[in-house]
Amino acid sequence: MTRKISLTRYLVEEQRVDGAIPADLRLLLEVVARACKGIALAVNKGPLGGVLGTAESENVQGEIQKKLDIIANEVLIEANEWGGHLAAMASEEMEGIYVVPHRYPKGEYLLLFDPLDGSSNIDVNVSIGTIFSVLVKPEGAGVSEQDFLQAGSKQVAAGYCVYGPQTTLVLTVGDGVAMFTLDREHGSFVLTQEDVHIPVDTKEFSINMSNMRHWDVPVIRYIEECLAGKEGPRGKDFNMRWVASMVADVHRILTRGGVFMYPWDRRDPDKPGKLRLMYEANPMAWLIEQAGGAATDGRRRILDIKPEQLHQRVAVMLGSKNEVERITAYHAPAG
Ligand code: AHG
Ligand code: MN
Ligand code: MN
Repeated sequence: MTRKISLTRYLVEEQRVDGAIPADLRLLLEVVARACKGIALAVNKGPLGGVLGTAESENVQGEIQKKLDIIANEVLIEANEWGGHLAAMASEEMEGIYVVPHRYPKGEYLLLFDPLDGSSNIDVNVSIGTIFSVLVKPEGAGVSEQDFLQAGSKQVAAGYCVYGPQTTLVLTVGDGVAMFTLDREHGSFVLTQEDVHIPVDTKEFSINMSNMRHWDVPVIRYIEECLAGKEGPRGKDFNMRWVASMVADVHRILTRGGVFMYPWDRRDPDKPGKLRLMYEANPMAWLIEQAGGAATDGRRRILDIKPEQLHQRVAVMLGSKNEVERITAYHAPAG
């Protein structure tokens, strides 16, 4: 009989055998996983749970919040505030940081999350998810927003949970990428793939083509060459997929390769991009690199960017290594 490896056992072994994570980080990740189970339940209930629709409020980015954006944010905060493993949290849905209340013990970690990614897909029953990233609080008394402004290369854990036909938790603690599928009968995440590896080449790209007229020259060049297919400079036909939930698009890329882009564009030229560096780009970039892929903003490695603001945005190109290197080369001054 093949024995099932639960997330709990995987984390215990990461701690004990590989020494990859301390006990407190293990607890933190278990709590995040439990919160994701709670969010998955709410997502699955849909209209039966009254969780669909708009909440009539705006987040700090000026986006209308969905009910599930707020529910998921609350689930993550309530699950994580009392365990003693965290100093503070930051979320795409909250303007400032959330410091662990005085009534609870404090730990050395900082947790960042996009509680509900793919909000436009909630009401139409398409895959959505939760993205998270863990940093260590710098030495010193108290905790401030400044403590969060660390490059993605400093992350000690990152992952996402995708709520699709299956609920799948994908995790890295810097020791490769592992995937866990939620077993609903047992209520636990079970290891279903280890050592995830992205093929270096691909014939599949992922971009919102409706923005093409607003893109910059290197992105237009790359996509036009893909569209030219076999007869064009790439000498092969490409396929296109765009779910509009970054979790689902990244999950596909981790599963079978591909390249994902949300580039800077002229619609809002002062913004460097649409996606958020701390809640979306950094955790996904680390997962992709851990699986042998690459992630840049067109010019720089995402994980090297030193954040200046909590809600900073960034252009994102990630996935199969050779494709990301090609797009990045097209952005170089001589490219
Ligand atoms: P969020 O729902 O957290 O605001 O993120 C949505 C993001 C990302 O998941 C997706 O790739 C992208 O926005 C979709 O944008 P478009 O609607 O512009 O295609
Ligand atoms: Mn998002
Ligand atoms: Mn979101």
